[in-house]
Amino acid sequence: MKIAVFAGDGIGPEVTAEALRVLEALRLPGMVLFEGDVGAAAWHRHGHPLPAETLEMAGSADAVLFGAVGDPLCDGLDRHLRPEQAVLGLRAELDLFANLRPAAAMPGLEDMSALRPEVARAIDLLIVRELNGDVYFGDKGTRTLDDGRRQGWDMMSYAEDEVRRIAHVAFRAAQGRRGQLTSVDKANVLETSQLWRDVVIEVAGDYPDVALNHMYVDNAAMQLVRDPGRFDVVVTGNLFGDILSDQASMCVGSIGLLASASLGERQTAHGTFGLYEPIHGSAPDIAGQGRANPMAAILSAAMMLRHSFGREGEAARIEKAVARALADGVRGGDLGGTAGTRGIGDAVLERL
Ligand code: IPM
Ligand code: MG
Repeated sequence: MKIAVFAGDGIGPEVTAEALRVLEALRLPGMVLFEGDVGAAAWHRHGHPLPAETLEMAGSADAVLFGAVGDPLCDGLDRHLRPEQAVLGLRAELDLFANLRPAAAMPGLEDMSALRPEVARAIDLLIVRELNGDVYFGDKGTRTLDDGRRQGWDMMSYAEDEVRRIAHVAFRAAQGRRGQLTSVDKANVLETSQLWRDVVIEVAGDYPDVALNHMYVDNAAMQLVRDPGRFDVVVTGNLFGDILSDQASMCVGSIGLLASASLGERQTAHGTFGLYEPIHGSAPDIAGQGRANPMAAILSAAMMLRHSFGREGEAARIEKAVARALADGVRGGDLGGTAGTRGIGDAVLERL
């Protein structure tokens, strides 16, 4: 079990440390950790947010446990040197095209949701976000038009094979859940989305046991707050998935709670190679103060055990320990409480 640990910037190191304590408490045989630099921290040390040695380390590991990247002091850097390029580069270089972002109501947290408790209670969905394409990775630039105005531009595109492979991931996920798949696009306006929809419909032929429906992204954003319980699996492109997953987190209660897995096709001895990270960012405003909620990082470690190491039992144990801590009233600042990073880690460990 070779795990590359890239804690990154801001609260990344604090929350990752708690995830590692939880992993270490499980005493899994053969677990080896390597640490690498990413993000602003790597840029300071090596002049690049994703140094070659970090990328090599990731490539030789069975899984990557990732913290967060981002630093406002780097906002003025050329885009290819900004901290975010570390995670975008890892996703691209390692072919991690499938991003799984589960969002489920947690008992005792209904009152923290931005939604009414009876609406929030029904949330149990999985966002399957395409992670290697879309407007994120298209040509982009700024230029000066003939009349002297500056223009920024970003090219959005999806090729059919890119849509097909993420659609298969989503259909299979739906088969393992409640058998319902919502494909989110903007086919009423975008050609990229029309192709997306056509290909998803083609792939649906292989999955007669899954009920497929299509939703425009604006409507999906609305339905997600009106009646989130209607969603089982949601499959969507990189940009829409980024936005809808942050929204889903506040429907549950806090962005400090949601984990994610980024998977490709490479298999390890007991699962699929993947990168695991909280969906929250580096939160520079509270970095270094021991105030960040490490639950999303801890739950990311659980996803890692499940998907890369075939350790469903331990993954479920971690998830239960977090759920129990929440049910017992353990609350970080993100949930209106006073528990600190370390204290929350302790609370999860006790229940583990
Ligand atoms: C996420 C983040 C990233 C993204 C940023 C940090 C590049 O928001 O993982 O959701 O946009 O994908
Ligand atoms: Mg995001």
